[in-house]
Amino acid sequence: MSSALYRLDGRIAVVTGAAGKLGPVWAEALIDAGAVVAALDLAAAASSEAWATLVARAGDRVRRVDCDVTERASIARALDEVVRVMGEPAVLVINAGVDQPPDSGGNRSRIDDLPIEQFRRMVDVNLLGTFQVTQLVGGRMAAGGGGSIINIGSLYASVSPDQRFYDHLPGDLPFLKSPAYGASKAAVVNLTKYFSTLWGPRGVRVNTLSPGGVLAGQDDQFRAKYAARVPLGRMARPEDLRGPLVFLASAASAYVTGHELRVDGGFTAW
Ligand SMILES: NC(=O)c1ccc[n+]([C@@H]2O[C@H](COP(=O)([O-])OP(=O)(O)OC[C@H]3O[C@@H](n4cnc5c(N)ncnc54)[C@H](O)[C@@H]3O)[C@@H](O)[C@H]2O)c1
Repeated sequence: MSSALYRLDGRIAVVTGAAGKLGPVWAEALIDAGAVVAALDLAAAASSEAWATLVARAGDRVRRVDCDVTERASIARALDEVVRVMGEPAVLVINAGVDQPPDSGGNRSRIDDLPIEQFRRMVDVNLLGTFQVTQLVGGRMAAGGGGSIINIGSLYASVSPDQRFYDHLPGDLPFLKSPAYGASKAAVVNLTKYFSTLWGPRGVRVNTLSPGGVLAGQDDQFRAKYAARVPLGRMARPEDLRGPLVFLASAASAYVTGHELRVDGGFTAW
């Protein structure tokens, strides 16, 4: 099989939530395959170490563009800048998302008094943000030359989190993995199918890439409990995600649409 199938030379790729932990992984994989990347994120987003490394390596093949995916006008402004300065997008990775991992202060509510605002915020970014970015950026791809949209889902789109992963954490109230996270990601999987059918005739493929938990400084007990639930016996490494992303972005997956590609070491097979 020719590796030319996996090339993205000359393509413009848009990645949302690009300055966090996984955004730079997607951006680097796309750049290595030949694309140039518009890296959309909140103006106030704290840039991750991975982002700083990417910028040092990729130079002018990556361009940071301010964008809040919860605001339609902000997405429209970002798209306008991308088209004006870089050209027509052919790949769109909708990665911006919010979760509440324990190291972020986490969620210490009891389920019966979980503030509805927390739930709403996750739906707002993870689901409605995905919808609005698809409407505007995807809509432009559908009106023009087609392309590939990849929504970043999660293993928790398919299964409930195992709260026992967190029961060693100290605190008066136990850490509660939010019910909104998986619910919002499950909705993204369905939204993917919706747009894959709507825009198939216009040459736009739409798929979900659902990662399992990615190694990023989690504590030893969490890692051990998590790994014991994974047929491949470990958490994901960032490099595990590159091939699947390039596959979905490129002509290698020319007849794949509406699909959820789970990159979770088999977690959801058990
Ligand atoms: N890291 C994992 O283990 C993992 C596993 C499965 C799925 N995911 C998914 O992968 C995606 C990226 O996760 P991550 O670990 O890099 O998270 P992260 O928190 O490191 O990065 C998320 C990025 O999204 C940005 N963002 C948040 N709200 C935004 C908004 N309104 N507009 C624009 N950008 C916004 C943040 O500023 C941040 O840079 C998320 O959708 C997440 O749900 C992550």
